[in-house]
Order: sequence, then structure tokens, then C-alpha cells
Amino acid sequence: MSLFESVPLAPADPILSLTEAFKADSNPEKINLGVGVFVDDSGVTPILDTVREAEKRLAESNTTKSYLPIPGKPDYAALTQELCFGPDLKSRLSGRIVTVHTPGGTGALRVAADFISKNLSSPTIWLSTPTWANHKGVFSAAGLETKNYAYFDHGTLSLDYPAFKQSIQNIPAGDIVILHACCHNPTGADLSPEQWDEVAEIATERGWIPFLDFAYQGFGTGIDEDAYGVRKLAGSRGPCFVAQSFSKNIGLYRDRVGALHILTESGEENQRVASQIKVAVRSNYSNPPTHGGDIVITVLGDAELRSRWEKEVAVMRDRINQVRIQFVNALKEAGISRDFSFLENQKGMFSFTGLNKEQAIELRERHSIYIVESGRVNVAGITSSNLPRLASVLKNLIEN
Ligand code: LMR
Repeated sequence: MSLFESVPLAPADPILSLTEAFKADSNPEKINLGVGVFVDDSGVTPILDTVREAEKRLAESNTTKSYLPIPGKPDYAALTQELCFGPDLKSRLSGRIVTVHTPGGTGALRVAADFISKNLSSPTIWLSTPTWANHKGVFSAAGLETKNYAYFDHGTLSLDYPAFKQSIQNIPAGDIVILHACCHNPTGADLSPEQWDEVAEIATERGWIPFLDFAYQGFGTGIDEDAYGVRKLAGSRGPCFVAQSFSKNIGLYRDRVGALHILTESGEENQRVASQIKVAVRSNYSNPPTHGGDIVITVLGDAELRSRWEKEVAVMRDRINQVRIQFVNALKEAGISRDFSFLENQKGMFSFTGLNKEQAIELRERHSIYIVESGRVNVAGITSSNLPRLASVLKNLIEN
């Protein structure tokens, strides 16, 4: 009997497996609306000009490939904190934020999960219904139990705020609640500032711990506007966790660059938490990969590059918002009677189309159009050249 005889075949990843299938598809008209990757109107995921410039500078100035410290460079912590919390709150929270440079936002979630699992008294992790397909996997892999809170109304394809509010009011003290800071993945349905204010009040009142997943800063309304919920929750009480990603807003997907910020209540507590975070990192991947982190330091730390980068983020955001409008219009013009105008009000790369699993499979297998089987589309994958075919296929699929 072989050693691996009893190893079962794992199910394919619901998002990343679509990229593999898309690459293997020989249809020249194939359309990828699966994985959350920004493309420009020519269908290319660009390397930002500011990133190219940073890489050029780094190639000239780098002198070593020796290890980074376990939490990464202090400059990285300072700059990522500033982007996340804003300069005022960052200085108000000075000495109370533990920051660690992680391999992507997923790395931040996993380091936090390991820390929580080892050091806190078995809190339940609460996830929105629906949530990013990998959330449950990351927290379960660290041995944590997950439960779900209400968030979305599948009938109206929009946020069900009353159900959400009622749900989070019933979460026990000490449990951890994963909130999408902006550009909710997979629905695009975000909380308004007033709703964030209420969430902050509820968190304080009930005593549960907010954990903000912040993967799309700048892709919703603006760099500071998208941080409203993070800053509200971090500013009104502690503790709180934030997982930050630079995959999308600096386009560093494959370089895997993110940060975990943990807001503690005192300098002394900060030291103890930081020491345990180091243990979690050391036993996981030892210390972070430097390249992407150095790009972030160079772009965010240089006033001229930073302002150019903010413009690049605005260009990506504007394109996504334009595509949302064009998509709704194209569906209308194709003669689809169902009202898709909700897509225009949603934020970020993702929306739910209301298509079911069978329809998603039919799109993929018969038309080489790749969407997640939950019905999620990455609207940032729509271009002026693929939109007409997309709208006409959807018309036939929905109306027949
Ligand atoms: C997505 O949701 O498509 C992205 O966050 C990429 C991923 O890793 O799933």
C-alpha cells in the first residue's frame, strides 16, 4: 500500500481554479470575470508606473539580500499604519499598534488566526454571509471555529442592514467579527459612514472584537473615504485587528505584500502581543519577503511617487465605476428586462449577478465566460471589447 493511498482529493479552490481553467481554454473570445484582478480596457493587468520607478530605484540602491527582521522593516510599519489609520489617528495610537509585514492580506489573516488560536480563549470567528471564499479556510486551518452573521439580501441583491445589525447585536463578548472594510467581497455592498458609526457603537456595547479585512483601499470611493470604518473602529475603542493588502491598490498581486495591524491597549500589552506575533511568524515563514515591501516603502515614502500613485489608484477606481455603468447599460440595451441598476451603486471589483451555480457553469462550459459559481463577477475584468458578447450571452441565459 502506498503512503498516500488514503489521501483524499481536495476540492478545487472556487476562485483560483477558474484562472487555471481560463488559461487552459483555447477559445479566443474567452472572458475572465473570476479572480479579483484589475485589468485595463485592453485586458492587461498593468504594473503601475510608480512601481516600475520604485523597482528601478531599488535595483540601483539595494546592497544586500540578507534577512529582514521577523516583523519587517520599521519604515514599512510606519508607512502602512499611516495609510491605514491616517496621520492623526496613527499618532494618537502611537505605541499601541503592533504591525507586522506579511505575505499578502491572506498572510496577515493567517498570522492573526495563529496568534488568536494560541493566545486567546477560543473565540468564535464571525464571517459575513456571504464572505470571501477563503476566509473560513484560513481561520479553520488555525483551528478556530467560524460562524456566520447576516449581511446580504439575495432577493434585492443588496445589503440587508436591519438583519446585519440584529445579527451583530447578538454576537457574544470576546468573539471576533470579520468585517470587510470596503468593497465587500463578494457582493460590493458596503456600509455607509452612518452605519459604520452604529457598528462601532454595537461593538463597544456588546464587547466583541472587530477584525477589518482591508484589501481594496482606494478602489471604492477614495483612499481616505474607504478607511472610514477602519478608522472609526480603531479610533473608538480597542482592541482591533486589521489585515491590509497591497495586491490590488499597488497592483503587487504576485509579490504578496500585506500587513497585519493589531491595536492593543497599552505599551506594555503591545510588547507582549508583538512578541507572540513574532513567534507566529517565525514558526510559519520565518520573516517576510523583502521585494514587495521595499516597493511599498518607496512608493508611499516618497512624496512625489505617493501623489503619482494616488492618481493611479484613482484611474483604476474610475475605470471600475465606469464599467459598472457601461455593464448596466449594455444589459439594458441587450433587452434584458431584469433590473441590474444595483450594480451601479456597489463598490469595488465585485458584485453578485444573481446567477446561480448552474448558470455559472453554463457560462463557463458553453461560452468560455468565467465567473465564480456563487454568481460573483469581477466587474474590473469587463472591457469595451468583451462587453458586447458578455451582454448578449447573458441576455440569452437569463431570458431563456
Ligand atoms: C478574489 O477574491 O478573487 C481575490 O481576493 C483573490 C483571491 O485570492 O481569492
